[in-house]
Amino acid sequence: MRLEVDITGKTFRSAAGGTHEVLAPLKFAVCPGEVGVLIGPSGCGKSTMLRIILGLDSDFQGRISRPPQARIGMVFQEPRLLPWRSVEQNVRLAAPDVTDAKLSELFRILELEAHRSHFPGELSLGLARRVALARAFAVEPDLLVLDEPLASLDDALAGRLRDEIATLVASRPVMTLLVTHSLDDAIRLGDRLFFLSPRPARIVHEVPIAIPRDARGDAEIAAIKASLVQRTQNGQDGEHGGERASRDIS
Ligand SMILES: Nc1ncnc2c1ncn2[C@@H]1O[C@H](COP(=O)(O)OP(=O)(O)OP(=O)(O)O)[C@@H](O)[C@H]1O
Ligand SMILES: [Mg+2]
Repeated sequence: MRLEVDITGKTFRSAAGGTHEVLAPLKFAVCPGEVGVLIGPSGCGKSTMLRIILGLDSDFQGRISRPPQARIGMVFQEPRLLPWRSVEQNVRLAAPDVTDAKLSELFRILELEAHRSHFPGELSLGLARRVALARAFAVEPDLLVLDEPLASLDDALAGRLRDEIATLVASRPVMTLLVTHSLDDAIRLGDRLFFLSPRPARIVHEVPIAIPRDARGDAEIAAIKASLVQRTQNGQDGEHGGERASRDIS
């Protein structure tokens, strides 16, 4: 079974009584083993869409279908750790079945070994994001939702974590949905890229990447990137929103 998103609309109402249309009709699916990437300008509605997909916001029009027993791993845009629990406790609370060996491996990969007993208030934003990633990986998710997980990490660490995400995705048939502003991350990790318009978000380009993830070297990445930029800037799909989305990420 796969994740099927069919949102027909989402509107926020302000305290003053006004309305704020955030999502236009949006329809797409992500299969097990596949990474869908959402790319769009700031404020277009990406995090709102993720909350709807996760079932955290039911005030929308449309339908979300995901495997009923799916274990969910989530990295929110803000790390959202429990401040009164240590790093290790934060991960264990989300993943009570995680083995000591698995936990140690995750902390090693994410370079968190020295921070196991620290509390969230003692962490930099980049460290807190890594804890949020450890927590999401520890649950061995069927559905992995990542909202800009590599923001505020230095390039070297972001690159290593990107590889870890790729390894996780290759090791289990996980359905992954990634939000990023980085075209590089999108091309290195994604199987299917969804370029979104400014608010209210709708899909202006859907671009599958045919080359398998592990066969994408620097030359392939550069070629895909060039063809993407050309495609969106030519407005091949007759959409100006795609041009803007492309400029926003390049
Ligand atoms: N709870 C809320 N009530 C009212 N408006 C909201 C609420 N949450 C988000 N919005 C508005 O909805 C729009 C989309 O917000 P959202 O956080 O989904 O954007 P985003 O695409 O994730 O942006 P970014 O790339 O900056 O994270 C914004 O205009 C935001 O102000
Ligand atoms: Mg967001």
